[in-house]
Amino acid sequence: MNDRAANMLDLSAFWMPFTANRQYKSAPRLLSKAKGMYYTSHDGRRILDGTAGLWCVNAGHCRDEIVAAVQEQAAEMDFAPTFQMGHPKAFEAATKIAKHTPGDLKHIFFANSGSEAVDTALKIALAYHRARGEGHRTRFISRERGYHGVNFGGTSVGGIPANRKAYSGAMVPAVDFLPHTLNIKEAAFSKGQPKWGAHLADELERLVALHDASTIAAVIVEPVAGSTGVLVPPQGYLERLREICDKHGILLIFDEVITGWGRLGTPFAAQYFKVTPDLLTMAKGTNNAAAPLGAVAASARIHDAIVNGTPAGIELFHGYTYSGHPIATAAACATIDLYEREQLFARSAKLAPVFEEAIHSLRGARHVIDIRNLGLIGGVELAPRDGAPGARGYETFVRCFQKGVLVRPAGDILEFSPPFIAEEEQIAEIFKTVGEALNEVD
Ligand SMILES: Cc1ncc(COP(=O)(O)O)c(C=O)c1O
Repeated sequence: MNDRAANMLDLSAFWMPFTANRQYKSAPRLLSKAKGMYYTSHDGRRILDGTAGLWCVNAGHCRDEIVAAVQEQAAEMDFAPTFQMGHPKAFEAATKIAKHTPGDLKHIFFANSGSEAVDTALKIALAYHRARGEGHRTRFISRERGYHGVNFGGTSVGGIPANRKAYSGAMVPAVDFLPHTLNIKEAAFSKGQPKWGAHLADELERLVALHDASTIAAVIVEPVAGSTGVLVPPQGYLERLREICDKHGILLIFDEVITGWGRLGTPFAAQYFKVTPDLLTMAKGTNNAAAPLGAVAASARIHDAIVNGTPAGIELFHGYTYSGHPIATAAACATIDLYEREQLFARSAKLAPVFEEAIHSLRGARHVIDIRNLGLIGGVELAPRDGAPGARGYETFVRCFQKGVLVRPAGDILEFSPPFIAEEEQIAEIFKTVGEALNEVD
């Protein structure tokens, strides 16, 4: 699309998600093409992608093998139901996914997004306890500042106030929250996992004492909280959560929608931290975002309790028309093959120290009060402007876009998650551009 065509585009009908619609439509930023590390904007500028789209295009954009798989599948069979029917790609994709999931989490339930994966995982947790005669375990524990998507379950266990506010009267009732782990005073500019903060996991014991373990189905956390502004777990924190869950018969759910598929240099964060959850959600990088796809990996214990524990007939009354959609799963197969063939997780691990050094080079830059990173996930927190929280982050993002680099603002935190195919010079360029933008923004 050229500039003229873009100017003639009617922007009014599309009610845009998580967007300041009026602000955006008064000065739109349109992307019209993508390849490798770059988008092309509608006015023909190359935009270096510092965010893998939205934490999802891990292998880089429009990879030939994935494009071909999508095209072939669309021509061969557009859709087939997976309710009491099946098609090969869904089974193939589940098998390929299960090769990479941790421990015995080898049973894959498909959804179409991270939000649906989260709600599916919450329902599986409830169904598991019920199948074992512990249907009284209905409470979920999550964490302040957690992001688990936007459906009712995910919103209810979500800990970002703005995402809950309009719906607060209608949340899933039994949810309680652990404190988040960010403490800038104690741990500012930590490289990797902060040393401070493992004791915050002990808050789970307090909630167990308060509610009684027999009422709690599961704890759900992002191993590294992404959307809220990159909160890296303190050393020992996730291990401690695992221990406490085990002690009380509580399931542990890792929401790996961002951390999954190589972002920390291992297939999942579970392997990076050597902490195996009972249920694991994924989406985004599962098929390099070539088509909507989400999934839940369930342990043998959970799968068998539900599937083998049901006398006959349908075992789990849950599923989506598009669970295991042919095009989405064909894209997943091609993506996982590509990850393996190009050893992209090893490449992600190799780039992580380069990324760490580059992002921390912004220490001392104007407005910067903290920098956090792990693997190829990074956050730069800016001091908010007096009376206008979020304005500085937004303006820096717009400046970067004008200068040809895509970053993601979350309030006054700038977030980074480059594709794993990034070259070292491109990582350097991302942070050099951010530094220049920060110099220009008040
Ligand atoms: C940890 C986590 N869970 C769930 C979601 C929701 O995924 P989706 O936007 O695909 O519904 C996201 C999205 O960023 C996420 O980061």
